[in-house]
Amino acid sequence: MKYRHLGKTGIQVSELSFGSWVTFHNQAGVKSAVEMMSAAYDAGVNFFDNAEVYAGGKSETVMGEALKKLKWNRGSYLISTKFYWGINEGVNQKNTLNRKYLLEGITGSLERLQLDYVDLIYCHRPDKTTPIEETVWAMHNIIEWGQALYWGTSEWAASEITEAIQIAERHHLHKPVVEQPQYNMFEQGRMKGDYVRFYKDYGYGTTIWSPLASGLLTGKYQGGIPKGSRGALKGYEWLQGSLTDEQKLAKVTALEPIAKELGCSLPQLAIAWCLKNPFVSTVITGASRVEQVHENMKAADVVDAITPEILERIDVIFEVKKNEEE
Ligand SMILES: NC(=O)c1ccc[n+]([C@@H]2O[C@H](COP(=O)([O-])OP(=O)(O)OC[C@H]3O[C@@H](n4cnc5c(N)ncnc54)[C@H](OP(=O)(O)O)[C@@H]3O)[C@@H](O)[C@H]2O)c1
Repeated sequence: MKYRHLGKTGIQVSELSFGSWVTFHNQAGVKSAVEMMSAAYDAGVNFFDNAEVYAGGKSETVMGEALKKLKWNRGSYLISTKFYWGINEGVNQKNTLNRKYLLEGITGSLERLQLDYVDLIYCHRPDKTTPIEETVWAMHNIIEWGQALYWGTSEWAASEITEAIQIAERHHLHKPVVEQPQYNMFEQGRMKGDYVRFYKDYGYGTTIWSPLASGLLTGKYQGGIPKGSRGALKGYEWLQGSLTDEQKLAKVTALEPIAKELGCSLPQLAIAWCLKNPFVSTVITGASRVEQVHENMKAADVVDAITPEILERIDVIFEVKKNEEE
């Protein structure tokens, strides 16, 4: 496993990391979480991603129980959580980044994770109704009080991140240091255009999500939605349109000869492709069972085999225009 600096910060993250969205509590209890986190950790993963809203808080509970059993040295791993949607119904407790919600939210997350602090906290989405200044101060205070070490954004516009950084600089507060955008062969927008300039200028890190487009890039949806897959889960019916989209499936089919040439599986190719982007600090992988973790961790070995010529062939399949690349 190789490690990359999280943007311009002093900490390094394993280039492959592991997240718990959809899976923890819904598909994996504590036993399975221990198994998968162990497999990832043994492969060199040092960053585990979570969020308050995942399984309504139960994903944090499962990860907390797993960490208790695993008894790893606290310095050897990083844990993140995220806030925005909330897990309570009150008017100030959902779809928000207000100060009250954030300060109460972190306390709840730490209790569920059974940790004294988390390493990273993200604003899971931008909140158009709370002044960015209020959010920046709340994140700064959480860090000053030792409940988190760094903070970042997820799916924020480049202009919103710039504003947050500028507010923090003006008041000498802890700045956001990392964005968590979706990035895979189908969704490349947040690693292009204004964003690239922004990652270069500010040295902002990126912990990217859904490298397999929720499993679509594994090829498992070619014959419809298989039993036991994410696409078959109750509550995730909204993913089915994308997972069975014929044009998307045709692109996945077109990737198969490339994976064959490289001697790897489709998931390994899709994950390794993300790592070719130098502005990616870490690719957050997801898995519902330990065999997937073992397979996905081997993606790191494929990166060097992906030549510029192969990248171009993939661009052609995904209809990436030259001037969109930067
Ligand atoms: N910031 C955000 O807004 C945001 C949003 C989403 C995710 N995230 C983070 O990013 C992490 C990864 O996202 P993701 O789970 O969507 O990643 P993904 O890699 O796109 O999808 C992972 C899913 O694909 C299937 N899969 C994985 N490896 C496979 C393999 N080798 N063969 C066959 N199927 C395989 C599994 O689902 P099944 O086996 O059930 O089919 C697995 O749960 C999340 O856990 C979370 O931490 C963040």
